[in-house]
Amino acid sequence: MPTPESRIAELTELIDRYNYEYYMNDNSLVSDFEFDALLRELIDLEKQYPQFALPTSPTKRVGGEVNKSFKQVAHRFPMLSLGNTYSIEEIEEFEARTRKSLDGTHFSYTCELKYDGVAIGLPYRNGVLVQAVTRGNGTVGDDITANARTIPTIPLRLKGDFPDDFEARGEVVYPFQAFEAMNRQREAEGDEPFANPRNAASGSLKLQDSAECAKRKLLFCMYFMMMDDQQAATSAGRFLTHSSRLDAARDMGFLVQPYIKECNDISDIKFFIDFWDKERWNLPFAIDGVVIKVNQTDLWNQLGTTAKSPRWAIAYKFKAERVSTPLLHITYQVGRTGIVTPVANMQPVALGGTTVRRATLCNADFMRNLDIHYGDSLLVEKGGEIIPKIVGVDLDKRLPDSPAIPFTYVCPECGTPLVRADGEAGFYCPNQDGCLPQILGRLELFVSRKAMNIDSLGSERLRMLYDAGLVTNVADLYSLRRDQLVGLQKVDETDEVDEVSQLRNSINSQLPSTSKAYQLQNSKTSSTSIQEKGADNILSALQKSKQVPFPRVLFALGIRYLGEVGAKKLARYFGNIDALMNANVMELAMVEDIGNVTAEAVYDYFAKPEHRLIIQRLRDAGLQFQMTETRVSNILQGVTIVVSGVFEHFSREEIKASIEQHGGKAAGSISSKTTYLLAGDKMGPEKLKKAEKLGVKIISESEYLELIHS
Ligand code: IVH
Repeated sequence: MPTPESRIAELTELIDRYNYEYYMNDNSLVSDFEFDALLRELIDLEKQYPQFALPTSPTKRVGGEVNKSFKQVAHRFPMLSLGNTYSIEEIEEFEARTRKSLDGTHFSYTCELKYDGVAIGLPYRNGVLVQAVTRGNGTVGDDITANARTIPTIPLRLKGDFPDDFEARGEVVYPFQAFEAMNRQREAEGDEPFANPRNAASGSLKLQDSAECAKRKLLFCMYFMMMDDQQAATSAGRFLTHSSRLDAARDMGFLVQPYIKECNDISDIKFFIDFWDKERWNLPFAIDGVVIKVNQTDLWNQLGTTAKSPRWAIAYKFKAERVSTPLLHITYQVGRTGIVTPVANMQPVALGGTTVRRATLCNADFMRNLDIHYGDSLLVEKGGEIIPKIVGVDLDKRLPDSPAIPFTYVCPECGTPLVRADGEAGFYCPNQDGCLPQILGRLELFVSRKAMNIDSLGSERLRMLYDAGLVTNVADLYSLRRDQLVGLQKVDETDEVDEVSQLRNSINSQLPSTSKAYQLQNSKTSSTSIQEKGADNILSALQKSKQVPFPRVLFALGIRYLGEVGAKKLARYFGNIDALMNANVMELAMVEDIGNVTAEAVYDYFAKPEHRLIIQRLRDAGLQFQMTETRVSNILQGVTIVVSGVFEHFSREEIKASIEQHGGKAAGSISSKTTYLLAGDKMGPEKLKKAEKLGVKIISESEYLELIHS
């Protein structure tokens, strides 16, 4: 029998190796199932024997640490940026200037990809990751260690030989495939999609919940090893050129680009640039240029730096590719919340490795500013991102006397005149309850994972239920019967189910279930018809959803502007739906994170009798419309705590909820009945004075945590 200590060490080794092989070499040594089992075993052992858990344990990658605010830390070596240019002439000048300064010294350049992501610095001491810091202003950045640890290509401890003190620099990128999958999921769940992979990478590193960051499939691409000259002089010349440093880094376990190329003159450099300008679209992540560096690190000091950037390196940035193509027609898309988005349908054109046919025209203002006329050709650009952008009209090709194209004034789906909210750039269709994409969009949001999590109802089935006249709003879902579901099939849009097939269906529905083999086959029976098992799954998922807690039910209603966080805050603040429905705009806007626009949208939603009816029906069906007491312990029984300031692990609302979950009382002001003042950062001086005067004990966040875990 291994001891817990040796088993922890063994599992740590094993999981590290599997991770490395998987992420670096695309090599699965074990099944996912086996991997998860090992990880689970390690998590459990570490929980039981925390004294043996290694600080670099792969369990740290699962996340779970909460970042309340990101600590600011100073960079040991400033994080300089690079001089950059779009012009080949300036690259020629850089090369000539460098050669002149080095005056006959033998040297070479390295050319490598310039990643379009977020730069971070990773100091390592004795082979162990110490911290992860964003660039910030170059001198001070944000400590994002908890999130960075979840990125599989950031080694928590290094392999082989490494300098005992150095900093790895590189870029966190969001690979296209994972980015698109994440954005699709966000849209399905009612979240705003990210504009491009770089923003998504940056947003992910700033997530408060590192477990959430662990789910984003980020990559860390290492491109630079920062160390002082003394360190560089050790280790038999391994660190005397940039390219050999990167080779060494690869051996230590970093992900380093294989494309780096040593170049001796300007023609080699130009070849590298031209090659990647075209080939970049075939990479799995975005690059926005090429970086050229002097390879010999001892020459760096000689060349020196300007105020902002080193003289021994330069970045060549790719120009966005731009084409002109005729506009065929404009269509209008209606979203879940009724927002109408114009879309340009264009003559297909090759751009940046793909064929572009459609691109968004964003909103009415964007379209008007472009001033598009009938018969125009549009200028379409593709930068480092995947999404083509319309940047203008090709005026050379405008037809004489062609009139401007107006924005549509009716909903393309339901014909309702569009309205424009004050101060908004776009129009929307106000026919919330009668406009198909809005109805279906709301149903889709309701069943989505972050809302009611009814995964046996996807968008196709919701459409079937709608077409069959069974479901037009979320409350209808809870009136569904098994016999209505079984045999339900997709209506062919072009070809209505005819009388004969309806008759067949009705005969089928009267057959005893033991005679299933005799069911009449409709020629049009679609593969998407709902079978008995499917019907049971739907009904049991609906049943299960009745346990979904109030905050998620509130989010699931799809109230305009009310996201997950806002719904949580409102639910906690008001405690139940009645209090929430009776609140006025001012009271709603008092709640943390609820702005005026959201407060008004919530108020308007509940002001409508048809919405109140839906709430009533959902309530009758047994959904959760009040906060349930989730009592965790009685450890704070009889204890009254006043909370003040900001905290590292909790928001104020969360800490109050935690006090109540442990049987205590969270009070607003200090009195002689107060047991503790729980003091966070930036606490008001008044409270402190009063607590001291009344002799109320002051505790910190960590003392509070100790208290409830004791
Ligand atoms: S080297 C002191 N190499 O582009 C030299 N930078 O303004 C440090 N970048 O700040 C930078 N790919 O954020 C280097 N292969 C690469 C890079 C790269 C992307 C970023 C980095 C840098 C910016 C240039």
